[in-house]
Amino acid sequence: MSKPELAPQIEHFYSQVIDENDRLAMSADGRLELVRTQEILRRYLPAAPARVLDVGGGTGVHARWLVEDGYEVELIDPVLRHVEQATNVCHADLGDARDLNSPDDSFDVVQVLGPLYHLPDAKDRKTALSEARRVAKPGGLVAAAAINRYSSLFEHVTYAHLQTERLQTAVSKILSTAVHDGKGFTLAYFHRADELAEEMRDAGLIGVEVFGVEGPAWSLLKAVEQSGTAPSEEMVASALTAARMAEPYPELLAASSHLLAVGRVPE
Ligand SMILES: C[S@@+](CC[C@H](N)C(=O)[O-])C[C@H]1O[C@@H](n2cnc3c(N)ncnc32)[C@H](O)[C@@H]1O
Repeated sequence: MSKPELAPQIEHFYSQVIDENDRLAMSADGRLELVRTQEILRRYLPAAPARVLDVGGGTGVHARWLVEDGYEVELIDPVLRHVEQATNVCHADLGDARDLNSPDDSFDVVQVLGPLYHLPDAKDRKTALSEARRVAKPGGLVAAAAINRYSSLFEHVTYAHLQTERLQTAVSKILSTAVHDGKGFTLAYFHRADELAEEMRDAGLIGVEVFGVEGPAWSLLKAVEQSGTAPSEEMVASALTAARMAEPYPELLAASSHLLAVGRVPE
């Protein structure tokens, strides 16, 4: 497929600034994100083997465990570096969440774990979720991740950054506008939980539920790592327990770093 249109700052960030392959392995909160994403998705996935499309699948971090679980996974991502790494895991190709190359009704599961982070325009997010619904079979599962609106506040307080005017201004801007386009990250959109649920329903999905992925203690893990020590096993286990205990309380959705929504295509 030809190269998709991607904002240059997003292309630069993933091609040259960070190694996305390490993101969920190299920090305690990254490992918490991986474990929680797995355990939430496994509650909804059909029995393997089933066909999964991993949209914006990056280097194949989630595709890897899905393949190991027996699923037939295809991955698309607009960043060439990611696609090259993901081909070691599953079939992978260049592609854009807003214009999927697959036929209607062709996958049992479509997961969109990342593209919504980088689509600040509501029309683009609607197109991406509608494309996911289109290529999922009737009754199929669509899962979509978002960055929480409040995550930058929790993150930067752990770095003791909020006493600097630059970071205070940047975080306040994310809180009030939901968009970041500057230092430290790249062009990004930060969702509220009810907004993500609404966007899933607007794309024609039913039975929508939204989960807080990391729960209320992820930034404590970050703070410990920031001080130069690894969090203890007990602390990591406690943060995981806190994420599970928070699930029944929608007001605690705001405390997670990421949100994960699931919904179904009407039969
Ligand atoms: C934070 S990474 C997440 C990767 C992986 N899915 C995960 O959950 O660990 C965000 C991913 O979204 C991809 N992405 C950004 N804009 C996209 C778009 N318009 N369509 C599809 N993927 C996109 C990026 O290239 C990147 O791989």
